Amino acid sequence: MTPLSVEPCTLALFGALGDLALRKLFPALYQLDRAGLLPADTRILGLARDGGEPASHLALIAEHLRRHVAERELEESVLQRFLARLDYLSMEFGRREDYAALADKAGQAERIVAFFATPASVYGAICAGLAEAGLAERTRVVLEKPIGHDLGSSREVNDAVARFFPEDRTYRIDHYLGKDTVQNLIALRFANSLFETQWNQNHISHVEITVAETVGIEGRWGYFDQAGQLRDMIQNHLLQLLCLIAMDPPSDLSADSIRDEKVKVLKALAPIAPEHLGQQLVRGQYVAGSILGRQVPGYLEEENSNTQSDTETFVALRAEICNWRWAGVPFYLRTGKRMPQKLSQIVIHFKAPPHYIFAPEQRQLIGNKLIIRLQPQEGISLLVMTKDQGLDKGMQLRSGPLQLNFSETYKSPRIPDAYERLLLEVMKGNQNLFVRKDEIEYAWKWCDQLIDGWQRVGAPPKPYAAGSWGPAASIALISRDGRSWYDDL
Ligand code: BG6
Repeated sequence: MTPLSVEPCTLALFGALGDLALRKLFPALYQLDRAGLLPADTRILGLARDGGEPASHLALIAEHLRRHVAERELEESVLQRFLARLDYLSMEFGRREDYAALADKAGQAERIVAFFATPASVYGAICAGLAEAGLAERTRVVLEKPIGHDLGSSREVNDAVARFFPEDRTYRIDHYLGKDTVQNLIALRFANSLFETQWNQNHISHVEITVAETVGIEGRWGYFDQAGQLRDMIQNHLLQLLCLIAMDPPSDLSADSIRDEKVKVLKALAPIAPEHLGQQLVRGQYVAGSILGRQVPGYLEEENSNTQSDTETFVALRAEICNWRWAGVPFYLRTGKRMPQKLSQIVIHFKAPPHYIFAPEQRQLIGNKLIIRLQPQEGISLLVMTKDQGLDKGMQLRSGPLQLNFSETYKSPRIPDAYERLLLEVMKGNQNLFVRKDEIEYAWKWCDQLIDGWQRVGAPPKPYAAGSWGPAASIALISRDGRSWYDDL
């Protein structure tokens, strides 16, 4: 495949004064500029409802850039070059007339990238406005998550967009796909023949995927309490990781080859019947506790909270993929807010050798593990069994890592933020790292049946202390299968 190049464009950023744009998108664009990746005639147009002087909004954006870009990466000359690309337009996203002004600003730009950092409820109106202003043909649209809160509402959003934009100009973001280490899963699996021969139910006993966060809900009660951890994290980030781990080798690296394989995994996920939910899924909600020596409030004591809420801030579940490769291999997924450390990690547990010849008390040591650390301290380690050294040790076994720590080994100055990669790929027109409509919908379908099931059962989430690894039931979930979570603490 010939590498795609970054096309000059006008980037129309809807929701330019919101948290995502100020904290993530403008800093990511600045970094692209700093790396020399933005063509000279790339323009950035911030769009928001706030009226007043554009200059004061641009000053606010500049102020946030200075706050969110690391000091050592703030280069005054780059900053000035970047700010010179920026413009601001106040508009009502639902008012069609306002799009004429946008068309004026876009001028003759051959390509427009319209990034929707707004609630999904206005995506349809924005698309209609862009089309009415005659901009649709040269525009790629970028949709932030969450796209809906269930299958029905996500279809409504997708359909509203599809009325004006074909799938090949629709880019749905799951920012985990922009993380370097997540892309490394593809390299690890398909550039190393070593693993592929082992990557199935004959050799793998089970897989763990953990995405733990120390943060709580960070003032996002309004959104989070309607969503909960299953919709916020499992439906997208964890299922995407699961797909990348479980999918069959694609025939090439094209967006559709990869996405076709991911969809097959989502389709093969076994539903969990309500009567089995008690054994296969744990919902938790944090209560006050301490993280890294700091006392933090419980979920129900967060600012603006509804003290009756039974929204989950933690989910652990046991999923199964019904296909030839994975039959009988449980995938244990776990994610929560207010965990003891920030950690995204996948652990592949290989089966023990078929015939055991060592001392019986060492048996539980046996079994290789491949630990893929996505963040922080990105790296890969393969736990292998060796013999302890020394004349007195006999055939005493020990497990040790073959280790690859990305930042130490490659001495890379910085790991780019996911949004840098994603913005770059949209400007190249590469959909590889974006989620296709059917992926989102199959993911919702699977999550919806879990949510329906637990609503039918009606059990409240189990409390866990902030700073712990979740409710005890999460340990029970995996130990019922004679296993435990791999916590490399
Ligand atoms: C977002 C969720 O998609 O991902 C947040 O809405 C979560 O609740 C965040 O905190 C985690 O992202 P990261 O990159 O910090 O792991």
